[in-house]
Amino acid sequence: MNIQSMGLVYFSPTGTTKRITNEIAHAIHSKRVKVIDCTKPATRAGESLTFYNELVILGTPVHYGRVPLKIADYFTTFNAEKTPAVLVVTYGNRAFEDALIELHDVAVNAGFSPIAAGAFIGEHAYSSEAVPIAHVEHLDEIEALRVPKNTAYRERWTPRTMPGVPTTKGKLCIQCGRCTEACPTGAIHRDGLTKTDKQKCLLCCACIKACPSGARAIRNPLFNVGVRILSQFWRMRREPETYL
Ligand SMILES: Cc1cc2nc3c(=O)[nH]c(=O)nc-3n(C[C@H](O)[C@H](O)[C@H](O)COP(=O)(O)O)c2cc1C
Repeated sequence: MNIQSMGLVYFSPTGTTKRITNEIAHAIHSKRVKVIDCTKPATRAGESLTFYNELVILGTPVHYGRVPLKIADYFTTFNAEKTPAVLVVTYGNRAFEDALIELHDVAVNAGFSPIAAGAFIGEHAYSSEAVPIAHVEHLDEIEALRVPKNTAYRERWTPRTMPGVPTTKGKLCIQCGRCTEACPTGAIHRDGLTKTDKQKCLLCCACIKACPSGARAIRNPLFNVGVRILSQFWRMRREPETYL
């Protein structure tokens, strides 16, 4: 098949998947990369996408060892008649578990023909200077990988079963609305910046990273114990695992 152009579709609440997939796309095909950033709910609410006669990169972060449910559901709506695809998951140094094989299965269901796949380490969304988890200073060179075969997926954890949700400290909030803009699920309303809808929140930390005044944080003590454990055991950056 003569590839005329490239498509890049990614979900990236805190920007790591965006950076890594862009690096890959431009390394493969420096020109004519059609980018679809499906982080914003409005993009995912649009018409279902059809891919034809192009090479497509699909990218998503790992959330609790899986593809975030909203993104698995969204990618399944694609119509890709045997379009070759490169599958990319990024994870925060702990483990990518079933996310890559799940992305593979979702892509195949949508009609893609996966030709390569990779799991790449990024900075954990819960990482901060105070509690670092795989703190990233630069990106390594990127290799394309083949999907590892696996058995059943691990059970899906949902943010609703996790303790805590991001909150806004009123005194620090400057009412700029960047948290609302950054949220990939519309969980923070413009006229109620101190409230987060726990039913919609992915705990992705996009709002926290976007907040210029440090007002947004997950202040639940149990949650922060979990982050400290992650920091303790997965602080040192792992190397990308390759499957050929
Ligand atoms: C809700 C949530 C769950 C996560 N689960 C995992 C995990 O199971 N394993 C892991 O290594 N990293 C995990 N991470 C870290 C992300 O996979 C990592 O930060 C990713 O690169 C973020 O991509 P993004 O910047 O494109 O949003 C999780 C992050 C979030 C927000």
